[in-house]
Amino acid sequence: MKDLKARKEDATPRGINVLCDWFVAKAQNSTIWDTTEREFIDFAAGIAVLNVGHRHPRIIKAVEKQLKAFTHTAYQISPYESYIELAEKINKLAPIDGKKKTCFFTTGGEATENAIKVAKAHTKRYAVIAFGGSFHGRTAAAVGMTGKVVPYKADLGPGMIGIYHGLYPNALHKITVEDALRSLDHICKSSISPYDVAAIIFEPVQGEGGFYPAPKDFVKGLREFADQYGIVLIADEVQTGFARTGKLFAMEHFDVTPDLLCMAKSLGGGLPISGLCGKAKIMDAVNPGGLGGTYAGNPLATVAGLEVLKIIKEENLLQRAKTLGNTLQAFLKNLKHKEIAEIRALGSMVAVEFFKDGQPSSELAKKVQALAMEEGLLLLTCGSYGNVIRFLYPLTIPDQQFQKALEILKKVIAKAVK
Ligand SMILES: Cc1ncc(COP(=O)(O)O)c(C=O)c1O
Repeated sequence: MKDLKARKEDATPRGINVLCDWFVAKAQNSTIWDTTEREFIDFAAGIAVLNVGHRHPRIIKAVEKQLKAFTHTAYQISPYESYIELAEKINKLAPIDGKKKTCFFTTGGEATENAIKVAKAHTKRYAVIAFGGSFHGRTAAAVGMTGKVVPYKADLGPGMIGIYHGLYPNALHKITVEDALRSLDHICKSSISPYDVAAIIFEPVQGEGGFYPAPKDFVKGLREFADQYGIVLIADEVQTGFARTGKLFAMEHFDVTPDLLCMAKSLGGGLPISGLCGKAKIMDAVNPGGLGGTYAGNPLATVAGLEVLKIIKEENLLQRAKTLGNTLQAFLKNLKHKEIAEIRALGSMVAVEFFKDGQPSSELAKKVQALAMEEGLLLLTCGSYGNVIRFLYPLTIPDQQFQKALEILKKVIAKAVK
């Protein structure tokens, strides 16, 4: 029998680019153990999925109960209460004005694609404005909106027509809010009439793109632009949602609200589910049967989602996200290495960006990541230049383990920049 690494190379395509060279045996809260019983502090959280930690006992209990009742009926065929209850709860909590409606899917990419469908059906227009550095998924239409060619779009040829990318503000990389808002005018002067634009989709904090929080003026400008031309404004909160930024949704940090809001990842606490919440009038634009999916809003995931909302409230995770984010930010600011170009945070959406000789250095970020892995700390990189380390620990991480992770970080960053 070949070992697992060889079997993986043989059986799976290289397009699935795997970070770790070890294999998971078990996980609990903020710890993962591999098949050789090595222990890792999990600062990746399954790419922002586990804000409430691995295998939260409340989620396990609820899913076990659901397993004994039924695991799948297809909501569109035979509906069940937990789907409706989760939609009701999200409608109450989402920062969108007026009457709201919510439906569920399975992945983040499905949420963003369906948001576009809803916006098109509502406006009877076809074009979409997204932003450079954005990430909205890898599926055929979502990847068109994703603002990064390599590795996501290269070799794919033309995708959905009518997708244009504006500039996303980024002070470190010298894109001002004015530049970014002007790029919308530029698109609508040179490429497409604003009256053909169905939607503007943006992340309130760019995730894969580098953990850049959107300046308030930018989001206000997007809202004004959308209102001026009757465009649907979509907040993609797939990565920012469910307490990560110190609010249930990152849009609560801003003075304006979107028309539609995409969510996924930490909604399910480890079970695959995504959702789209929006103004009822817009959400109802799609004809019956136009939304949904075989597994969309699977009952194991909807009961998990209900528990996630309770856990966030009962364990005070909004405050916890702020406290941990502040601690990490202060710790990073104390490190004083000249290679640290910027430290930024919105709650526990914290990132450190590395430059070497005045240029973004993916090499340094990768080195920090590799050294941390050797020390038992799992970190993720991100950013258009791959030069950012992002921190996505479960918000339920015990203080002692968090401190241990900071000690590892201090050691490996010092070693990497030496
Ligand atoms: C902001 C954002 N939108 C959409 C997606 C796509 O989600 P999924 O990988 O579940 O399709 C991601 C995934 O990282 C994301 O961060």
